[in-house]
Amino acid sequence: MSITLQRTLRLYSKTASRSSLPANGTVPSCLTALRSFSSSRSTREEDLSDVKVTDRMSLKGRNVFVTGGGRGIGFAICKAIAQLGGNVAVIDALPEPVEEFHTLEKKYGTKAFYQTADVTKEDSLGTAFKDAENELGEFHGCVPAAGIALDKPLADHKWDESLRVLMVNTMGTFWTVKLMADHMAKHRQGGSIVMIASIAAQGNKIPEQNLAIYNMSKAAVKGLVGPLAVEVSESGIRVNSISPGVIRSPMTKALETDFPKLQQMFENAAPAGRIGVPEDLTPAIMYLLSDAASFTTGADLLISGGFHAGVRPSWMHRAMPQ
Ligand SMILES: NC(=O)c1ccc[n+]([C@@H]2O[C@H](COP(=O)([O-])OP(=O)(O)OC[C@H]3O[C@@H](n4cnc5c(N)ncnc54)[C@H](O)[C@@H]3O)[C@@H](O)[C@H]2O)c1
Repeated sequence: MSITLQRTLRLYSKTASRSSLPANGTVPSCLTALRSFSSSRSTREEDLSDVKVTDRMSLKGRNVFVTGGGRGIGFAICKAIAQLGGNVAVIDALPEPVEEFHTLEKKYGTKAFYQTADVTKEDSLGTAFKDAENELGEFHGCVPAAGIALDKPLADHKWDESLRVLMVNTMGTFWTVKLMADHMAKHRQGGSIVMIASIAAQGNKIPEQNLAIYNMSKAAVKGLVGPLAVEVSESGIRVNSISPGVIRSPMTKALETDFPKLQQMFENAAPAGRIGVPEDLTPAIMYLLSDAASFTTGADLLISGGFHAGVRPSWMHRAMPQ
């Protein structure tokens, strides 16, 4: 038992004998929490002055559970994890992931396990998670990236389709995170959970886009970060999210064909001067998954090419000729 914990327990027993020791003699949850605090990896203070930053970013030997990793941003996340030496277990609604998924193991010498499952169904998610655990063992990281979008005016919304967005984006994330937090707490090795919110979680609207229910679903994800980061901190689990701006992926493909004006704006207006690609997000996600981020929890990182802050003056002048 650490000296700090011994001191805290002594202090607690003195205070408790004076005041509120439970009548049934059970150990209060704060003490249980203190014990797990002392055993968790990410709460130890270390001298890092001589540790290379590249070593701190390594995911060698780590196992990461990724939902929605069959394509798009989720797949880019899997590839980046493999590049850093980590193993991935993916669940996705797609029967098959993109072809390149099958090349990861050979190319990077890591494990890549894929299972078709639905994050909105308790049985499906639970069984897929068990299979993934049997395949890889203990998980150290989790990125719930499964998501869907719905662009529709409020007046046209049907009950089931609105609910589906919340079920996949919000509840799918929530239940995945719960499974993972229980798993990580049981193994007492800490871990990192990185959720995917969105620039849409910030509560703004772009003309010609009607994403209110999507905004709501992602605002809920962002809202989970702080409370969960605190709740599971005693188990050494960190919880963060990223909020991407517009990223080229199968989800945003329809912009090119159906909304060319919007597409043009996304390709030019942001301070970065271009639309994003999944690889614009992966370095930040890898940072949050790795030990380099051991002091980062409860945070949401906006990665939008600056679009959340405003638009390029030159684009504004072109869009609004005098
Ligand atoms: N592309 C963007 O501009 C953008 C911006 C901000 C946030 N995001 C978020 O990033 C994440 C990835 O998006 P993307 O652009 O790669 O989209 P995508 O459509 O390419 O990928 C989403 C994946 O989630 C899977 N999925 C959907 N419903 C599922 C379910 N019920 N169970 C299991 N898997 C399911 C899909 O099969 C797909 O493989 C999503 O959460 C999305 O909301 C995307």
